Amino acid sequence: MEASYLSWYEMALRAVNYSVLGLPRTKDINKVVLAGMGGSGIVCDVIYVVLYERSEIPVTVVKDFKTPRWVDSKTLVCGISYSGNTLETLNVVLRSLDLGAEVCVVSSGGRLVEIAKSRGIPHVIVESGLQPRAAFPQLLIAVIKALTTYGINLVEDLDELVGVLGFKDLTIGISKELTNFLKDSIPVIISNFKFYPLALRFKDELNENSKMMAKVEVIPEWAHNDIVGWEKLVNEELIRALVIWDDDPLIEFAVDYLRELGVKIYVLKTLGNSLLSKILHGSHIAGLTSTYLAEVRGVRADETRSIDKYKKFLRDRYTQLRT
Ligand code: F6R
Repeated sequence: MEASYLSWYEMALRAVNYSVLGLPRTKDINKVVLAGMGGSGIVCDVIYVVLYERSEIPVTVVKDFKTPRWVDSKTLVCGISYSGNTLETLNVVLRSLDLGAEVCVVSSGGRLVEIAKSRGIPHVIVESGLQPRAAFPQLLIAVIKALTTYGINLVEDLDELVGVLGFKDLTIGISKELTNFLKDSIPVIISNFKFYPLALRFKDELNENSKMMAKVEVIPEWAHNDIVGWEKLVNEELIRALVIWDDDPLIEFAVDYLRELGVKIYVLKTLGNSLLSKILHGSHIAGLTSTYLAEVRGVRADETRSIDKYKKFLRDRYTQLRT
């Protein structure tokens, strides 16, 4: 896994040359649904926060089997599944097609690409053979490309975005420092709303690669409940706060608050000129940190046996799903 994360820069450079296959039926879109799970679903969250700031039409993330009832012929549904075989995502894509939605997909293959080809819908095929979570930059760039087809532009400078993955030594250094800080702890990752996908990505990477429990707290909602939980920790050594920095008075407030309480805290600053590039750089740090933590903990980063178990359960149990 470490090698996969260390090759993200080169992977992203190749992804810049991806093309969208197939033509949209319509570009007359008035809402967007982003559907995906786990390592593919996090791309939906990232795109969501970027569009939240700049889109004039509503955007929703679906991480479920069910498709919103309001999906119609003016809805763009973008299905993202690295394997192309994730039942939740396949179900949303198929139901959206039934509802007459404009559908596009991003995948490395599987059933999703078969559907895209047979229905003639726009799709981007990414490189296969990786763990979905290690394919993050290519999934992200592929979705950016797919959305551009519909006039939805997320990035001013693709070179700048990819460029943040080139600072390998710096990223490795921060990741080693964080490994030291987070080992033997239950990390609590705190961010503001904009950086929520990065906090979530960090948690997911610690779960999947390091086999660790972790929690996410999002400001300003944090200040209405989580904040109180810090007043009396069950174990002051065990709970560690990782705060995702942003030039935001509320983040300053949270850092001061936790420091005053004597909480063990690490403030993470990421590189980049845009929200998207900062999230991408932070995700690179998360990936490497989680593989180093796997090594320290003596577990295999690439194995996710429990997810395989869940997927087998789904396949055996839900034969009625439309896949
Ligand atoms: C495994 C991983 C998982 C998968 C998820 C959905 O590396 O990250 O979270 O991403 O089970 O599978 P895909 O991405 O194939 O749709």
